[in-house]
Amino acid sequence: MKRRSFFQILLGSSIASRFLPFSIVAAEPSVAQQGLSTPPPTGPFTLPPLPYASNALEPYIDAETMTLHHDKHHAAYVNNLNKAIAPYPDLQKKSLEELLGNLDAVPAEIRTTVRNNAGGHSNHSILWKTLSNPGRKPEGKLAKEIDNTFGSYEKWREEMTKCAMGIFGSGWAWFGRSKDGRLFIEPFPNQDSPLMTGRTPIYGIDVWEHAYYLKHQNRRADYVKSCVESVGSFS
Ligand SMILES: [Fe+2]
Repeated sequence: MKRRSFFQILLGSSIASRFLPFSIVAAEPSVAQQGLSTPPPTGPFTLPPLPYASNALEPYIDAETMTLHHDKHHAAYVNNLNKAIAPYPDLQKKSLEELLGNLDAVPAEIRTTVRNNAGGHSNHSILWKTLSNPGRKPEGKLAKEIDNTFGSYEKWREEMTKCAMGIFGSGWAWFGRSKDGRLFIEPFPNQDSPLMTGRTPIYGIDVWEHAYYLKHQNRRADYVKSCVESVGSFS
């Protein structure tokens, strides 16, 4: 082996970090070198504040998860969306519903970014508003519609649980209303939203691991049970 190629290999290996002086080990690019130090645009979209304290959903959803989920994950969706549409004044005037409801109108080069991040912003904005401790069972007209559509609120819970547990990887179980007025429960991958098909999201269970892994680790069923039985709150 030529000496030069040996060093190239060594510099890329974990051996290098343990046995070579720091000064000759290839360093990770700094945040500044990656261009990440530039603050993202501050609008047009903004991170809504949590409508309660980060520990308000304890013991079902822990404060650390809530803080990271809202302050880091949701904030990243907002920042990434603002950054993507910064060169497009027309897109900056649109609402989340308008962006997601007509992704074909978004330039192809940023369409996936807008889909993921506008979806993430919309989904999480709804999520915070539909959680409380204790949870609140729907009442009135919606309660009757749930009974008529799913058989009972208990059956609705079973359907939501089944939907959330059936999602492979990251995504959401959404309960919502179709354009024709009918209620639905359906899995959505990634940060896709019912808004993408002109439907109205009412209550969603976020089954991305960032939503539960700190507390529940691989026990998604425990987390979903908490969402459905203890902190889900919509009307
Ligand atoms: Fe999330």
